[in-house]
Amino acid sequence: MWSGSRLCICHPCFYGPLAIHAANPITPLRFDSPQVDMGYDISDYEKVYPPYGSVKDVEDLIEACHKRGMKLILDLVINHTSDQHAWFKESRSSKDNPKRDWYIWKPPRYAEDGTRLPPTNWRSYFSGPTWEYDEHTGEYYLHLFAKEQPDLNWENEETRKAIYDSAMRFWLDKGVDGFRVDTVNMYSKGVEFKDAPIVDDKFYEQPAWLYYANGPRMHEFLREMNQNVLSNYDAVTVGELPHTPDPKKVLEYVGAGDKQLSMVFQFDIVDLGQGREHKYHFEEWKLPQLKSIVAKWQQFIEGTDGWTTVFCENHDQGRSISRYASDAAHERAPSAKLLSLMLCALTGTLFVYQGQEIGMINVPASWPIESYRDIESVNFYRTMAARTHNDPAELAYIMRSLQVLGRDNARLPMQWSGEAHAGFTDCERGPWMRVHDLYGDINVERQVREGEGSVLGFWKRMIRFRKEHADVLVHGAFEGFDMENEQTFVFGKRVGEKRAAVVLNFTGEEQTVELPGYEGLVFMVGSYEDAEKQEQGAEGRARTLRPWEGRLYLAGC
Ligand code: GLC
Repeated sequence: MWSGSRLCICHPCFYGPLAIHAANPITPLRFDSPQVDMGYDISDYEKVYPPYGSVKDVEDLIEACHKRGMKLILDLVINHTSDQHAWFKESRSSKDNPKRDWYIWKPPRYAEDGTRLPPTNWRSYFSGPTWEYDEHTGEYYLHLFAKEQPDLNWENEETRKAIYDSAMRFWLDKGVDGFRVDTVNMYSKGVEFKDAPIVDDKFYEQPAWLYYANGPRMHEFLREMNQNVLSNYDAVTVGELPHTPDPKKVLEYVGAGDKQLSMVFQFDIVDLGQGREHKYHFEEWKLPQLKSIVAKWQQFIEGTDGWTTVFCENHDQGRSISRYASDAAHERAPSAKLLSLMLCALTGTLFVYQGQEIGMINVPASWPIESYRDIESVNFYRTMAARTHNDPAELAYIMRSLQVLGRDNARLPMQWSGEAHAGFTDCERGPWMRVHDLYGDINVERQVREGEGSVLGFWKRMIRFRKEHADVLVHGAFEGFDMENEQTFVFGKRVGEKRAAVVLNFTGEEQTVELPGYEGLVFMVGSYEDAEKQEQGAEGRARTLRPWEGRLYLAGC
């Protein structure tokens, strides 16, 4: 299992990969793409987007990673391609083209008055319908995301073979060590294309993931992919698994015996605060909700052959400091360390998203919609502006939601230094979107200079500590304490006789916590530099934690 090795993920769209167990960004990689969805619309799996480099650069990157004992995995976007992919161009060229069936085409429906309607009322992730009418052949094609991202037809065996060859074997043969598998549970769309129930009567299009996520042939497809491709390379996979709240269903993907995926990203933690009608209708939440989500996805593998992941950021989410703690000037560094301490004590493979290791935060609330670039955010804003006739209250609410949850929050250029463009590029035009106003305060160069006391320094220390005590921290069984407490989070980990205890203050005020009743707990690491000194006078199980402070204890080592 990959719980101990260092791993980088190259997203098709980003600028510094994720690092597991290492804050160690490397060169970016994007597949060739018109960039409608920041690279998740791939026009050629076997090329790199030219402004970002070449296939040779990736080969060098693979070699350089391997030399350093690191592994490299790529993002694998195979639910859909770009509409500029040669396969789709052929598919749309005529009804009898041999590749017609490589995508999902359906004839129109007609209302009683003769109005042409799409085959179903499904809503796309990026607003509007999941169907685009193609005048040329008089049919609709399916696109769960943008209309420039047509869904591949996985029912067609020839299509699956082409995907395995072009998107997977091509890179595995070059030495990549695996994949982060995009939208891994949407390839099997089900046999019936029927209307989704109306949950939002203000729109024709309705959320329809019930009909296209976790479809009937999903596990068959993943087994085939594993058997025909992945297992021949001993490749690791981490699947993106939205819309799957039932642990039993998640286990069907990650049970080691039934070879499908190595692990998945289950989304409950990052869905926290998303609205029911639309994700960008932010809803307040309380700490016990976060705690029960953590407990649920820690405990679901116990007694099974499944494996789990630990993460709370990715390129589709707001930054964790801003969402789960506080990004106020004097609170953001303690918050970053608190979250680092929590994550580094949890069971599973830990994923740290670029910028998380220096405590990057969400875009400033003052940024207008014109500063946003993400298709999902911008389309939603436009749709709601049209529907509400620019109602100021509604638009303010949407901007507030985007500022917390929007995908651009995690897509700002990486903050390398206090130089122009945050040191990201010396190209005069600058990067694809503006850099964070606070790049002078939050950047890699500064934190390297500050050393141990910085957020980056703390992450390094925690990752080392996690490795030293991997038995209990990476693999131990989880138990939560005082789970209804809205201010603090206390949990324990157990393996054999060994125990770990973690106490976290999720508020900006002092809080008293009680350590779990494990015998012989010894203080090991704290997010405040003087925690050890504070511990010297402590007696019994009660501890007073300062704002956003976390501490970790061990027993039975
Ligand atoms: C995944 C990606 C997201 C992308 C979508 C379509 O959810 O993480 O960024 O927009 O798939 O490929």
